Amino acid sequence: MKILLIGATGTLGTAVHKALAERGHEILTVGRSGGDLRYDFTDPARTAELYERAGRVDAVVSAAGSVPYKPVTEMAPEDYLAAFHGKALSQIDLVRQGIPRISERGSFTLITGVLAREPIPTGTAASMANGAVEAFVRAAAIEIAPQRINAVSPTVFTESLAKYGDFFPGMPPVDLADVARAYVRSVEGAQTGQVYAL
Ligand SMILES: NC(=O)c1ccc[n+]([C@@H]2O[C@H](COP(=O)([O-])OP(=O)(O)OC[C@H]3O[C@@H](n4cnc5c(N)ncnc54)[C@H](OP(=O)(O)O)[C@@H]3O)[C@@H](O)[C@H]2O)c1
Repeated sequence: MKILLIGATGTLGTAVHKALAERGHEILTVGRSGGDLRYDFTDPARTAELYERAGRVDAVVSAAGSVPYKPVTEMAPEDYLAAFHGKALSQIDLVRQGIPRISERGSFTLITGVLAREPIPTGTAASMANGAVEAFVRAAAIEIAPQRINAVSPTVFTESLAKYGDFFPGMPPVDLADVARAYVRSVEGAQTGQVYAL
């Protein structure tokens, strides 16, 4: 398959790229500062240009997204908007604009995270954004068949423990190789409307 991978140079994206390449897929990598195509997918106009440049693809895979972390009492409305734009609307618009452009039986795989179901202090914006994406995935799935859509919802990566481990005390991490396998399952499998919790 020809696959568009957003966030390909990141921690997760690198692992997803490796797993999909090993399966023999052709991958077009996307990021703001690295990758085959340089686009900021929080800007709908840039996402439209990205699809024009990429041409027809069989799968769109997202491993990007950013959200602010702060105590709820320090959050401003702008912080929630930043989370919504940075993780939810960016990915939702990738799907909205992609539907008429990807192949007839193509698929979308989005990234969410454990905070949609297991809250941590300072994580309200992340929880909100992840929950929004997961609800969107379930809702969009019933409208877009035979195209498919799933989300991958991992806990903290083993490889990110040094950076984020203190935020997840006592919570078991997940290896990036297992997270990447969930992307392969979503891209090559037949399921839709699923949230793969890892
Ligand atoms: N790290 C964890 O333990 C963990 C656990 C669960 C879920 N997640 C989720 O997994 C996703 C990736 O996390 P990560 O740790 O791999 O992050 P990361 O290392 O910072 O990688 C993010 C990637 O996305 C790209 N990117 C970011 N914003 C973009 C934009 N607006 N337009 C286009 N590309 C963009 C970045 O490249 P450029 O900067 O060049 O654009 C980079 O390639 C995030 O949504 C995160 O919430 C992470």
